[in-house]
Amino acid sequence: MADVRAYRAALVHCLDDPAKGGEEAVVWHPDGLLLVEDGHVADCGDWTALSPYLAADTPVEHLPGRILTPGFVDTHIHFPQIDMIGSFSGQLLDWLDEKTFPAERAFADRAHADTAARAFLDELLRNGTTTAMVFGSVHRASVNALFEAALARDMRLIAGKSLMDGGPDGLRDTAASGQDDDEALIADWSRRGRLGYAVTPRFALSSSPEQLAAAGETLRRHDHVWMQTHLAETPREVAQVARAFPEARDYLDVYDRFGLVTDRSIFAHCVHMSDRSLHRMARAGAAIAHCPTSNLFLGSGLFDLARADAHGVVVGLGTDVGAGTSFSLLTTAARACDVAQMKGRPLDPLRTFYLATLGGARALRLEDRIGSFRTGVEADFVALDPAATPLLARRLAGVTDIREILFALMVLGDDRAVAGTWLAGKLAHSRD
Ligand code: GUN
Ligand code: ZN
Repeated sequence: MADVRAYRAALVHCLDDPAKGGEEAVVWHPDGLLLVEDGHVADCGDWTALSPYLAADTPVEHLPGRILTPGFVDTHIHFPQIDMIGSFSGQLLDWLDEKTFPAERAFADRAHADTAARAFLDELLRNGTTTAMVFGSVHRASVNALFEAALARDMRLIAGKSLMDGGPDGLRDTAASGQDDDEALIADWSRRGRLGYAVTPRFALSSSPEQLAAAGETLRRHDHVWMQTHLAETPREVAQVARAFPEARDYLDVYDRFGLVTDRSIFAHCVHMSDRSLHRMARAGAAIAHCPTSNLFLGSGLFDLARADAHGVVVGLGTDVGAGTSFSLLTTAARACDVAQMKGRPLDPLRTFYLATLGGARALRLEDRIGSFRTGVEADFVALDPAATPLLARRLAGVTDIREILFALMVLGDDRAVAGTWLAGKLAHSRD
């Protein structure tokens, strides 16, 4: 017997990018019905239109005052950095040496990784994030711990172990051992439940040409595997990459020469990019993880979304914890709006909401599975509370315009605004 449940609440989701599809790209039902069958969306629409067709024995959960949205998609985050978020240092390369690498060394220990994995997934769910693309540490054990915990929750998660044969002591693999680890992790986890694997060369400064070549080979060998890395985050890093790879035309070209620029590739940051690189990414169908809180925290620069749009590059949002300062995609979306303001190109709140949901799904090539309430997608969703704090309650009292509601939730909300999170139709986090 099919497991059928109905949820009555306000509903909002995107069918397309509002920058392209206009207002019609966003579907808003102030009194809506979400019908879930065996963990998938069976229908979504107005309560008055759909409720007469509900079978008499379908349980209906009424969530008055809540707004259901598709679960948030975090296209870039670091699992072994959960316990060093908010660590004061200088810019990227100093922060890595002083604060990040010491914290990641601890993930050689499986017991430590197990405890951190449970806390990490709890934190994602508390913030309404139902899908994430995640960096593990260099240790295979860290990714085993994360996948095991995600499988137990039936969570959609893409992750990979960091490849870093040029890393510091205690955080170094070799081109051969990194490739062996990748193969073992792919064999053990990829496509189990809702798990996916990403080949994860940390960045051009952490991997030798041999390791980048091996990463490209692994990516070519497995057409269901993704690739994630960092690209053009800070000027100092870009200059060092140019010195280390003098034959490359630019930073992206370092990866391109090893077959790492594909439509399954997600590049975090992309703050300091040439037009050539953006054009090449668009042609390859590669995506950008825009990480505004991280770029502000490390002083990396202001990502130019309008320029990426002009080139037609797919963009999602990434928290980039622990350089990112919040697990919340609401907060991350608000900072994306701030950065766009600094660039003189204001970002419409509906578009920002799209980036946190369907846009992220598109960046990960998972649009047919997650990111909306289209019939057939996986029922990963959140219940937002527009009265989560006294200030939000005052700000949104009597407001019915969804653009205004979502914007206030981004600016004033965070994990406190997430009343509940469902994975494949099952409640996985409840705030109250
Ligand atoms: N570049 C290489 N490693 C990292 C990392 O851990 N965080 C960020 N923000 N950038 C990186
Ligand atoms: Zn990162």
